[in-house]
Order: sequence, then structure tokens, then C-alpha cells
Amino acid sequence: MRIAHLSDLHLCSKFKPENLLKLEKLIIEAIEKGAQHFVFTGDITDNSNHLELINFKEILIKFGIYNSKSSTVIIGNHDIFGGPQTASDVPKFPSNCLKVNYKEKVKDFVSTFNSLFEDCIWVNKESLFPFAKVINNVALIGINTIDEYSFFKNPFASNGRIKKEQRKDLLKLLSLPQLKNKLKIILSHHHFYHNKEKSSSSENSFWEHIENYTMKLKGKKKLLKLFSENDIKIVLHGHSHEVKQYKRKEMYFFNTGGGFEGDLSQMYIVNAFPFDISGELCQIDFNDIEKNIEVIAV
Ligand SMILES: [Fe+2]
Repeated sequence: MRIAHLSDLHLCSKFKPENLLKLEKLIIEAIEKGAQHFVFTGDITDNSNHLELINFKEILIKFGIYNSKSSTVIIGNHDIFGGPQTASDVPKFPSNCLKVNYKEKVKDFVSTFNSLFEDCIWVNKESLFPFAKVINNVALIGINTIDEYSFFKNPFASNGRIKKEQRKDLLKLLSLPQLKNKLKIILSHHHFYHNKEKSSSSENSFWEHIENYTMKLKGKKKLLKLFSENDIKIVLHGHSHEVKQYKRKEMYFFNTGGGFEGDLSQMYIVNAFPFDISGELCQIDFNDIEKNIEVIAV
């Protein structure tokens, strides 16, 4: 199966209207290149605004990919807590995060895209994540890596955490007979870099400086062990705003978190075959986009 992997769209009609154009162009390009499924690994919105989720859904509808067979979506930290839009928002951000109802936000995200969750498999449907979706020879497994807000432990709402309960559910899910002999692909928002490896964010420079120190995924080691012991072959993620592929414990990792940065729009098209896993990087010059695409009213 050929999977188009996009991440960190950070849709924001007010401050980043160009990201909607980039999304359209990438979808067109992916369809032209024969993508059979689209995966979006979180941070669909920049500010956790429900309206941006609707804008995203309308684009999927427009291209005929708003259905479970064509697209899969998982949640990112910006879809729950948002982020400061300007430097002056930074001081207010922690108190805004404290007001967020985490569970309600996750519920709203999943119910907004209810058609994309049709035919999914859960071991604990109430928690909504993890879930699995089987398409042909592939099993996509979506996890929720977003940590709850804490003034001391997660002051900028960008850290990740996988609690024991989710690990247990994940283990049960991976051992279900429906997933047997499928090529298992994990969809995560947070990255799995080595601790010494630097991650990057694109927010305003002050925010970038802070966020780079607070993008860690707690429980990463245990999770990597669980992946490698349960036959995971590919991990698709974003969060850190760069585009790169790497290998850990014989698993292939693709990060398209920087796909909506600067003058380029980028995605990976991952060829997920049992014996031939490869990723093709597609880059589109954003300056060409405005010439070739009708501007959407936002
Ligand atoms: Fe993120």
C-alpha cells in the first residue's frame, strides 16, 4: 500500500491561511503519485479551534478522501491545547491550558472525524486511543501521545506521555487475531529521537526556544521495546518540525512534522510492502502553489 504521510498542518485561518493551500496541493500531488491512503499524525490545527477541524474535514470531502478506507487521523498537542499565536499570547498560555477539558477535546476531535473511525478496532473504546484499522495487508495503529497539562511537569503542553493503561491496551490490541500477519504501522504524534538528538519547533523564536526543551515523550523507552517485541515495522510521526527518516531497533521512522514550514510543503509517500519498505519525499515549492491553485476563502 502506498501511504501519503502528512503531519503538523497547523491550520489557522487567521495567521496561517497558506497552510490550507499547501494541504490541497499535497493531496493533489499524492493522488497523482498513486497514494492509496492518507495519514495525518496530529496538530491538524494550530490553536485547537473546532472551526479549523471543520476546514480540514471539508478539504478531505472535496477530494473524496473523507472516509475510513482513504484517510486516518490522530490527535496532536495543538489540537488539545493550541499554542500561542503571537509573542504576547505566551504569558497567558499556561492559564489557558489549565482551563482545557482534555477528555472533552479528545472526544470532540474523534467525533468530528467519525467517518474516519468507522471499522476501527478498540480494546477499550471509551479511551478512544489506541485504535487499529486494517486495510488490505496493513494494520494502522493510532496512539495518543499527548500528556495532560501540568504547570510543573508539562508547562508548555508540548510534552508527550504514554501511561501504563495505554501501553496495556496497545499490547492487547497488537495481539488480536485481526492483526495477525498484517504489516503493523504505528501512528504517533511525538517523535522517538535519541535523548541527545535535538528536536525543533517553528513557533515564534521565543516559543521555539522554550518548546525545544519540552517536546519529550515520557515512557519512550518502554514504548520502543513494546513496538520491537510486537512486530512493528513502521512508525509515522510529526511534532518536531523537520522532515526526516531514521531507523531504531530495526523499525523505520518517518517524520513529516516540518512539512508545512517555509517555502516548501512536504510529505512522505511510504511504500508499505512486507519486504520492501521505502519512503519517497515529495517537496512542492510553495511559491508555485498560489499560481496553480484557486484560493480558498477562509
Ligand atoms: Fe506537536
